[in-house]
Amino acid sequence: MKRVVAVTMVLAALVSLLGCSPRAKTEDVASGGPLPDTGTGEPGASPKDSFTIGMSQCNLGEPWRVQMNEDIKRAAAEHPELQVVFKDAQNKTEQQQAQVREFITQGVDLIIISPKEAVPLTEPVAEAMKAGIPVIVLDRKIEGDNYTCFIGGDNVLIGREAGKHLVKLLGGKGKVVELKGLETSTPAGERHQGFMEGIKGSNIEIIFSADCQWLEPIAQKEMNSALSRCAQIDAVYGHNDPSAHGAYMAAKQEGKGREKTIKFIGIDALPHEGVKYVEEGILSATLEYPTGGKEAIEVAMKVLRGETVPKTITLGTRLFTPDNVAQGGLAIPAG
Ligand code: FRU
Repeated sequence: MKRVVAVTMVLAALVSLLGCSPRAKTEDVASGGPLPDTGTGEPGASPKDSFTIGMSQCNLGEPWRVQMNEDIKRAAAEHPELQVVFKDAQNKTEQQQAQVREFITQGVDLIIISPKEAVPLTEPVAEAMKAGIPVIVLDRKIEGDNYTCFIGGDNVLIGREAGKHLVKLLGGKGKVVELKGLETSTPAGERHQGFMEGIKGSNIEIIFSADCQWLEPIAQKEMNSALSRCAQIDAVYGHNDPSAHGAYMAAKQEGKGREKTIKFIGIDALPHEGVKYVEEGILSATLEYPTGGKEAIEVAMKVLRGETVPKTITLGTRLFTPDNVAQGGLAIPAG
């Protein structure tokens, strides 16, 4: 028995002399080394002291997504034990599917995904869950509920508020162009549904609508068609600020001054995008769609520490108009 104790002591001394403490592994990662082996997670193994999160972003072509990654980076920087590996799927579904599978093969500790489309990303997320890797789904949804936690804004509420605001702006009647987000991504359907609820009972009608895939150049092109086909357009409901801005540019470039009479409404309200457009008088309103980046890291930390987290976290919104933009907009109570 004494011999066992002595051998253990000698081994412990050697380990500390050679500097093989788990901390050393964390430093490798900080200096850009390979993905760390931070413990096995098997019963009886020492608890992990550092974690790798794989973040799959559906694209970085839109300012809102650049902001989401920034928010994640800033929040993660407060946890030195976290390393976040970012991948950009460049708006390609197959690339995003492959990214999730790469994260599984690499054995990351947790995955955050902001999926381009719901259906095709459902299976890769299920594979991660099956491999024991928790998954936080951010902003756009997948099918079903095989994930750890969903974090996002209430798109039905946001759409409804946009509709209600337009009813006020137009005095209850008018002709509207709706420039939708990508149909196969969940916020587009939800923002449409909410908007229809918001204008219900009014004399507002949608005279033109198109799937603009969340992209400003497509929205601008579709608005060109709307302008040439429709003599009367009172407002444009863009499912995001880039779409509303694209519509404004189309109206301006038409050269008939219609950008001055049409009311443009968008969604996202980034300070340097939608909120700025409201300040400049380009948009009549925008509704905040928070990125959830900070919340994703908070939830990730809890999951990694073994704490339970809610299945869904719904983020709030704010309405920005020329009247309230200087005061930071108006908080909209949860619906
Ligand atoms: C960015 C974006 C945002 C929009 C969100 C919806 O890709 O189009 O503008 O609010 O995605 O998922």
